[in-house]
Amino acid sequence: MTEPTTSPRTAPVVVRTREELAELRPSAGRTALVPTMGALHSGHRGLIAAARGRADSVVVSIFVNPLQFGPNEDYDRYPRTLDSDLAVCAEEGVDVVFAPDVETMYPGPQTVTVHPGEMGAVLEGEFRPGFCEGVLTVVSKLFNLIRPDIAFFGQKDAQQLAVIRRMTRDLCMPITIVGVPTVRDADGLATSSRNVYLGPQERRSALALSRALLAGADASVTGPVGILSAARAVLKEAVTATPPVVVDYLALVDPETFTDVSADHRGEAVLVVAAWVGETRLIDNVPLTL
Ligand code: PAF
Repeated sequence: MTEPTTSPRTAPVVVRTREELAELRPSAGRTALVPTMGALHSGHRGLIAAARGRADSVVVSIFVNPLQFGPNEDYDRYPRTLDSDLAVCAEEGVDVVFAPDVETMYPGPQTVTVHPGEMGAVLEGEFRPGFCEGVLTVVSKLFNLIRPDIAFFGQKDAQQLAVIRRMTRDLCMPITIVGVPTVRDADGLATSSRNVYLGPQERRSALALSRALLAGADASVTGPVGILSAARAVLKEAVTATPPVVVDYLALVDPETFTDVSADHRGEAVLVVAAWVGETRLIDNVPLTL
């Protein structure tokens, strides 16, 4: 009797330079791109699985982009775990991993950048000046280098996803952008590469973010004012937790413009939150239909 066989996945081709990438580019078929900064987790696995379902070949880029970090942010300590990332990519059936170094992506001073417009000045843009511009600039570079037909981004970074959609529309980029629902751990915390920074006590405090969003969602029949006050009540308690949750913003916004919805708004909205627990900044959101 023969043993049942599972088809082993072949390791992805790893390319580091633009030249290697250009040589590999497939001439036919649909190419998907999953842009990442590495430290891959189950949320990234979800992005890759979605990409595999809609393309003939999947490219994952792994690049910690200095342009989207502010001077006092965590660029230096951001987790860099290439070996385990490659193992994840092999398990998930990724065809190509593009893992350039900084000189490859930024061979000289970056004088031309992609400006996100008004949407890049609010919320994340207000608390992380230059973040949206840094993301759009590196994502455009990745699009130009890899030339995907379709690209996948997590809905957890809802504002990032919205500005990328807007960029492809406004700059006529022939790429379909797909948002993939947020993956949560069993305790409700949205998966994020930054979760590794959290100690056990900090993680307990951090759960206030998802609890606040859930409270807001549960109050959705009451409209914007009720949603915000339900979510705010949870965060108010978390301010006195040990360690405390220090809120940057809680807002109910239009999913396309990221401006606050009006008190009588009906239709689609996103409840977004950003907060610090210790040295770690976390963001989360839940899409709602009012
Ligand atoms: O979401 C991320 O990991 C990054 O912001 C992205 C889209 C890969 C750009 O550096």
